Amino acid sequence: MEIERVQEIASLSNLNGTIPIEFIRSENEQPATTTIHGVTLEVPVIDLSDLDDQKLVASIFEASKDWGIFQVVNHDITSEVISKLQKVGKEFFELPQEEKEAIAKPVGYKGVEGYGTKLQKEVEGKKGWVDHLFHRVWPPSAINYQFWPKNPPSYRETNEQYTSMLIGVANKLLGFLSKGLGLEEGEIKQGLGGEDLTYMLKINYYPPCPCPELALGVVPHTDMSSITILVPNEVQGLQVFKDDHWYDVAYIPNALIIHIGDQMEILSNGIYKSVYHRTTVNKEKTRMSWPMFLEPPSEFEVGPIPKLINQDNPPKYKTKKYKDYVYCKLNKLPQ
Ligand code: OGA
Ligand code: NI
Repeated sequence: MEIERVQEIASLSNLNGTIPIEFIRSENEQPATTTIHGVTLEVPVIDLSDLDDQKLVASIFEASKDWGIFQVVNHDITSEVISKLQKVGKEFFELPQEEKEAIAKPVGYKGVEGYGTKLQKEVEGKKGWVDHLFHRVWPPSAINYQFWPKNPPSYRETNEQYTSMLIGVANKLLGFLSKGLGLEEGEIKQGLGGEDLTYMLKINYYPPCPCPELALGVVPHTDMSSITILVPNEVQGLQVFKDDHWYDVAYIPNALIIHIGDQMEILSNGIYKSVYHRTTVNKEKTRMSWPMFLEPPSEFEVGPIPKLINQDNPPKYKTKKYKDYVYCKLNKLPQ
C-alpha cells in the first residue's frame, strides 16, 4: 500500500531526521521565520461561572469583535470528561494502521466524515503534517456511526457524554453572542438552523516532526462553522494571526478554545470576526486537538440577521445555503 498517512511518513522521517519535500513550506510560510518568538498571545479568557450575565455578554462581545477567539474556563465540563475524550481519541490513533483504515473516508465519497489525510494538495503542492478523523455527533439524525471508532470500546459512550455537556456550553455561548448584538437570546441559534444545528467533531493528530521549523500542521485558514469549540492536548501548536504576525496561543489546562467562524461573521454582518489561525508541530511530542464545528444544516440559508441591517448598515455578505458556501470555499471560488 502506498504510504500516505502522515503518521506513517512521520515514523520514517523521525528515523532519518528529514521530511519529504512536499511538507517543507516556502520561506514566507515557515513557522521559524514567521512566528513572533517568546510572546504567547493572551487571548481573552472568560470565566463562565461568573454570575453577572451582562458582564459575560460584554466580554464575549468584545473578544469576538476584536479577536475572533477566546478561551473559556469554569464551563461545567469536568476535567474527567475532557481527559476521557482525549484518552479514547489517542487510543484510536495508536491502533494498528489497518484498524484505522477500516473507518477511512471511502474513495470518491463526497462527505467529509471518516479517518483520513487531506488529499488535495495545497498552495504550491504543499501538505500539512496532520491526519484527522471527522464524524458528526449531533443531532442524532445526522450521525453516521460507521465513521465512529469501534475501538476503544468506550469511544462511543465517552464522546456522547462529552457532546451532551458541550451542547449546554454551546447554547450558553450562542445566547451570549446573540445578546451582544442586541438580539434575543435564541436569535443567533435560529439563524443557524435552530435545533438542526449540526455538531461535527474533528480529531487532529500531529505526529512528532524532525523539522518543526519548516513544516505546518493545518495551514492558515478561517473555520467555515458558526463557532468552533476546541480542546487541545498540552502540546503547544495553535497560532493566531494578529496585527500582521503569527503568535502562539497560550495553553490553559481544561480551557475550551472558542473560534468565531465564517457563518458567525456573516450572521453578525461583520461585527464578529472569523479568526485566521494555523498550527505548528513539535519535534518530540504528538500534538492532538478536538475541534467541534457547529454548522448549519447544508440546505439551510445563512445571511446577515435582518434586524442588524438598515440603510447605514447594508448587508456585507450574500445569503446562501451553507452547502453552497462550503462548495465555494473548498473550491476557492468567490462567495
Ligand atoms: C482546525 C484547526 C487547530 C488546532 O482543525 O480547523 O484549526 O489547534 N485546528 O488543532
Ligand atoms: Ni480551524
